[in-house]
Amino acid sequence: MKKIAVLTSGGDAPGMNACIRAVVRTGIYHGLDMYGIRYGFDGMINGEIFKMKSHDVSNIVQRGGTFLKSARSHEFRTKEGRQKAFEQLSKLGIEGLVAIGGDGTFTGAKVFYEEYGIPTIGCPGTIDNDIYGTDYTIGFDTAINTALEAIDKIRDTAAAHDRIFFIEVMGRDSGYIAVECGLGGGAEMVMVPETKTTLAEVVEKLKGSPTTKTSSVIVVAEGDEEGNAAEIMEKVKTTINDDSLDFKVTTLGHIQRGGSPTGKDRMLASRCGMAAIEGLMSGKANCMAGIIHDQVAYTSFEDCITKDKPLNQDILKLIEILSI
Ligand code: F6P
Repeated sequence: MKKIAVLTSGGDAPGMNACIRAVVRTGIYHGLDMYGIRYGFDGMINGEIFKMKSHDVSNIVQRGGTFLKSARSHEFRTKEGRQKAFEQLSKLGIEGLVAIGGDGTFTGAKVFYEEYGIPTIGCPGTIDNDIYGTDYTIGFDTAINTALEAIDKIRDTAAAHDRIFFIEVMGRDSGYIAVECGLGGGAEMVMVPETKTTLAEVVEKLKGSPTTKTSSVIVVAEGDEEGNAAEIMEKVKTTINDDSLDFKVTTLGHIQRGGSPTGKDRMLASRCGMAAIEGLMSGKANCMAGIIHDQVAYTSFEDCITKDKPLNQDILKLIEILSI
């Protein structure tokens, strides 16, 4: 294998740049020709592919976002789109791919590999941490630190005014961000899609609080089945029906996706990037390079996409214990 291209796809995550850098430099170190693809699979279809030198990835290890840009491609979901993408890669003689992203990215990469046989390895780049086959995903650590900083600030004002705050964090269908922020931010409760928390339980908790606590923070994962934080707050407020209680809601939103990656994310990104290139060189394909128990681990795209990575129930219990 002589020519490998790298792309970032789906929601960006802090540390993607560090991962691109590791992919490009490891490839060059091993004597390969490295290419970058702009705008993920869309760029592959449109031929936005360019040769990369080592200095092209200088001064990006510390930057959030992705300098290759990202997109959620609709065209790549079609046979015609993937055919165009294959033609673009063939024109340049590209024989291997590294796709940095989440489960949507790996789903696309898997179909493409099955149709055209271009060896592809993924790197887990998503703030959601919901990918099977790696203990952590690139961007998760930065996202929870960003969210925690915000939660700490909200706590100050919540305490000053004796208020009850519902804070919504990202994570699509996954409660990883909510759980870590809930624990680290000293939340009274967390609401996550994986474990049902009824509105009655929230009401019960808040009714029990005022004698001992003057303010409360409830962290809600955006995918919670009771609704978004604003909807949950309204329902709880109506049920409690106590004018002495002051309710507020904050949705942290895309602030969680930006910012300079933490040391942990830079380390993870660099290790996965290197593992992706070395995996391709050793003949691996159709899988993701992750880190499990501090060791590089390759997991088939099939498993990454279909297997659940369950939340640690001990941490949920811990949040309950620590919020008495
Ligand atoms: O997958 C990462 C993520 O930030 C999710 O947590 C969130 O649901 C989604 O992306 C938001 O996507 P977009 O930026 O396209 O609105």
